[in-house]
Amino acid sequence: MAQLLARRRMTRSFDGTPVDSDWLDDLCATALWSPTAGNCAGVRMYTVGAERVGAYFERATDAEWRERAARFEGLRRAGAVVVVTSRPQDYLDRYDESDKRASGLASRDAWRVPYWHTDAAMAAMSLLLLLEERGWSATLWGNFRHDGDVLAWIGAPDEALFGSILIGRADGGGVRPRSLDRDVPSRAARVRRVD
Ligand SMILES: Cc1cc2nc3c(=O)[nH]c(=O)nc-3n(C[C@H](O)[C@H](O)[C@H](O)COP(=O)(O)O)c2cc1C
Repeated sequence: MAQLLARRRMTRSFDGTPVDSDWLDDLCATALWSPTAGNCAGVRMYTVGAERVGAYFERATDAEWRERAARFEGLRRAGAVVVVTSRPQDYLDRYDESDKRASGLASRDAWRVPYWHTDAAMAAMSLLLLLEERGWSATLWGNFRHDGDVLAWIGAPDEALFGSILIGRADGGGVRPRSLDRDVPSRAARVRRVD
């Protein structure tokens, strides 16, 4: 597991190899062994096969970005996409049940840490590690625009879009993201012992 964690790096340029859809559906179901608050099971994974990756990008990006972004060519050769969503209402309903009601979490604005996003992150990380284990590369795209269009396209307008995982075989190309050149504290320095 430590080796998998160390090896996994986001890949943003793929060679066009398609991902088998049945295999990917099974892998997503395995990823959903992830922890889920109150056993809400409120995360969903929508798999998009290679033949629909172009249609995904038409919803998830705009023409101006596709024209301008140096990394688009490499990304569009992804062999599949998994759109990870969650269902906030499932969490509100669950935390209004008798064993959870004392938490006071039956309304959406009561949550300091919205567990639907936490659960989605847990499941997304599980999928990233499973993909790494099976020899595939991937990148997680966060959700900061176009989420309404993507949710409508996958037929889940009432769900919350957590992010999309673009999957494929790395082709060794792509533009190095500026994020990786940031001077950040080492992993060890981010661990603090409380005395
Ligand atoms: C919540 C979240 C959102 C992210 N969104 C994007 C994104 O929109 N586009 C992208 O290229 N990478 C995205 N990343 C990947 C990060 O840039 C990447 O994890 C970070 O630079 C460290 O690189 P590494 O994962 O390869 O070690 C995201 C990662 C996380 C956890």
